[in-house]
Amino acid sequence: MLSKITVKAPASTANLGPGFDVFGLAIDAFFDEITLTKKKNGISIITNDDVPTNPDDNTAGLVVKNMLKKFKIKDGVEIKIKKGIPSGFGMGSSAASAAATVIAFDKMFGLRLDRNTLVELAGSGEKASAGTIHYDNVAASVLGGFVIVRTNPLNVIKIQPPLNLRMCIAVPEIQVPKKKTKVSRAVIPKKIRFIDSVTNLSNAAGIVAGFMKKDLNLLGDSIKDVIVEPARQHMIPGFAKVKENALRAGALGVTISGAGPSIIAFSNSSADLMKISSAMSKGFASANTKCKTIICKPSNGATVIRK
Ligand code: HSE
Repeated sequence: MLSKITVKAPASTANLGPGFDVFGLAIDAFFDEITLTKKKNGISIITNDDVPTNPDDNTAGLVVKNMLKKFKIKDGVEIKIKKGIPSGFGMGSSAASAAATVIAFDKMFGLRLDRNTLVELAGSGEKASAGTIHYDNVAASVLGGFVIVRTNPLNVIKIQPPLNLRMCIAVPEIQVPKKKTKVSRAVIPKKIRFIDSVTNLSNAAGIVAGFMKKDLNLLGDSIKDVIVEPARQHMIPGFAKVKENALRAGALGVTISGAGPSIIAFSNSSADLMKISSAMSKGFASANTKCKTIICKPSNGATVIRK
């Protein structure tokens, strides 16, 4: 058993278009760092970042609370949070803190939990931020690579992404609502046309095949979502133009990153990623919106960096 441990967990992009709540991909754009220190009793949160410090409202706090209870551990835990991932922009910020916490807690108390249990516990922390539990971001952040989340019972499948996969993420400089994921989940249609579910299913299958066959053209071409993206795109200024520009500049597929408002373009290492990134910036500029662009690649999952 350890008295102190630090774990970092990567950002992630969820959905990849048609895989709403099912697909996640860990990305090396940003990382969160969590340090757990064993204490006599209680849960406390220390941070210099703008995140809730009440354990019930914080993904890491909720994970520790749930794990202490589940494993009947009487110790207290101090949680130090160092955010590297911007919150509320669709890059799995809350999930990364939860993922790092689960791994740190597992190691600290020598639990040796299996992958699905780790993801399930990290997902329980997501409730603090999204209002509901979804596992796509946490699964990617815990395990790394590309993940497929099957539920009831939870069963996460991990696929190692092709080595030449690259992404360009454009992060608009706009004000996002406090509970953004909750807000952007509220606009999703309650009923959908049968034909639309068939279209999304075929594209989701294309994405999985693209990852398995390491066929980036198939992967990119399958990033087409006729259900969630049309319902959410009004929340992102200049979305249509950013997408059109990125595709024209050579991106293989473009969609909203998670619940947005960041937009992600998929490409390969030999493409002109700077050209795609400047095309996306121009798209946002056409809607009078500034953005930051980040070029990144798939990441490994949460890893211990100090103990
Ligand atoms: N699948 C989730 C959503 C991801 O799109 O609402 C949120 O990060």
